[in-house]
Amino acid sequence: MKNILVTGGAGFIGSNFVHYILDKYSSYNLFVFDKLTYAGNLDNLSEVQDNPRYVFVNGDIADRETVNEVVITHQIDTIVNFAAESHVDRSILSPDAFIQTDIVGTHVLLDAARDHKLERLHQVSTDEVYGSIVEGRFKEGDVFEPNSPYAASKAGAELLVRAYHETYGLNTVVTRGSNTFGPYQYPEKIAPLFITNAIDNESLPLYGDGLQVRDWLYVTDHCSGIDVALHQGAPGGVYNLGGGNERTNIEVTELILKYVDKSRDLIVSVEDRPGHDQRYALDSSLLMSLGWSPSKTFEEALESTVKWYQDNERWWRPIKDGEFKEYYLKQYGNRLQSRL
Ligand code: NAD
Ligand code: TYD
Repeated sequence: MKNILVTGGAGFIGSNFVHYILDKYSSYNLFVFDKLTYAGNLDNLSEVQDNPRYVFVNGDIADRETVNEVVITHQIDTIVNFAAESHVDRSILSPDAFIQTDIVGTHVLLDAARDHKLERLHQVSTDEVYGSIVEGRFKEGDVFEPNSPYAASKAGAELLVRAYHETYGLNTVVTRGSNTFGPYQYPEKIAPLFITNAIDNESLPLYGDGLQVRDWLYVTDHCSGIDVALHQGAPGGVYNLGGGNERTNIEVTELILKYVDKSRDLIVSVEDRPGHDQRYALDSSLLMSLGWSPSKTFEEALESTVKWYQDNERWWRPIKDGEFKEYYLKQYGNRLQSRL
């Protein structure tokens, strides 16, 4: 492994992965391939822009010609695919881009990996492919029951990855990460949305009763889990990657308010998300048997994430004043009004 194509590397987890891998492996070259959608941001990579082992290419993973050209020109031997439309609420408003990028785009990458005989393709997937679980924790062999267009598009992508391993012998590996938080996360997801709203004394719109449970994972631990599976995972292997930190949304919200030092009065209960999954929980013992474990407690990681947003207003303020504003109005306008 030498020349790695990191698709979606200008997004939240992808950019953290680029920092992580450049620091850890001095012989790897990273080629970030990103369409720079609303969620892609070159500011996430400004610290590495002068690194001679990093190259940025602007492109769409569903564009076959450009993908093949990049693979050939840069002698790519490995693909780590982060590129996706990633937000459940946007997938409910408009599923088209999810099908196009998450399924068609992954298909194009699989073809390129097969045709150019790459060493490995790592698909960054999600625990949402399983759907919701009342008790216990999902294991890798459990059935897919995705409930949102986002989850269904990621499940579709994974089925293609599996088929390319079985049919063409492509050396694939999949990680199913749980809800992730940390620096550089676009402020549409609950943690950065609530942190930045709290800093600004704006409402924190909690969906429904706030009792839904997510299994929280710090972004650096997500990156180290991908690293372990990428290097040590079995060909065709699938690995759950969960932080083991089950918290209700209201618990997460209250902790955020504690760390930002703001009142509970900012919490506003709004109309629930349709098809809202009640609980995600993963059994990550298979990946742990390869040596992976999370490095920070949930509370430590959330507190340091709050501090990062407090210290990096110059990163998120232009986002919240830009494209995000229109989205926020569309997503929350009626909900916030219907409460009044
Ligand atoms: P993100 O939305 O922050 O970033 C996605 C990146 O992909 C952006 O840089 C965007 O510009 C790029 N992109 C989108 N469409 C593209 C296309 N057609 N071609 C090239 N680039 C394109 O997402 P994230 O939260 O960093 O998630 C990364 C991956 O991890 C996704 O595959 C997601 O499904 C998965 N995942 C995310 C979480 C989470 O909690 N955020 C949890 C588990 C798995
Ligand atoms: P989110 O960050 O969108 O991740 P996902 O839907 O992939 O789990 O949401 C996490 C949880 O927080 C989910 O149960 C929905 C809830 N949520 C709210 O209550 N209010 C919000 O404004 C958002 C964005 C999410």
